[in-house]
Amino acid sequence: MDKITSQYEQKRAALLPLLHLVQEKEGIITADSEKEIAAYLGIAVSHVHEVVSFYHLFRQKPQGKCHFSVCQTTACALRGSEDIIEHIEKRLGIKPGEVTANGKFSFGVVECLGACELAPMMQCNNDYVGPLNKKKIDELIDKSND
Ligand code: FES
Repeated sequence: MDKITSQYEQKRAALLPLLHLVQEKEGIITADSEKEIAAYLGIAVSHVHEVVSFYHLFRQKPQGKCHFSVCQTTACALRGSEDIIEHIEKRLGIKPGEVTANGKFSFGVVECLGACELAPMMQCNNDYVGPLNKKKIDELIDKSND
């Protein structure tokens, strides 16, 4: 953390890189981590929490090995994201924000990921996938289930 903050003129400017570091090490950002970072940077815990909850890339709950972030904003909604979400729920037996019992899959619903040309689309861990249809979802799930 000292190495990261030393790169910034103001220590508090290192908030995002520190959150990435914690998530990389711990897998998620817990309330305790938020408190530790706030104390370390000398800023309010509520500020750290606002940042964590604003960016969907920061995880506050455990996720599956394969995490789907399905976009539900206009371009994706007009091209069928609701059907995609329903299909994922049926195939995995979970609702947004949940993890399958075997820990392999989780999914969430997010706002525009800036890849509207791929609508309907989702982020599958670090990859953008789209345009989606039920067959493509099935293939992704089957491939990740092996
Ligand atoms: S609306 Fe879905 S990526 Fe932009």
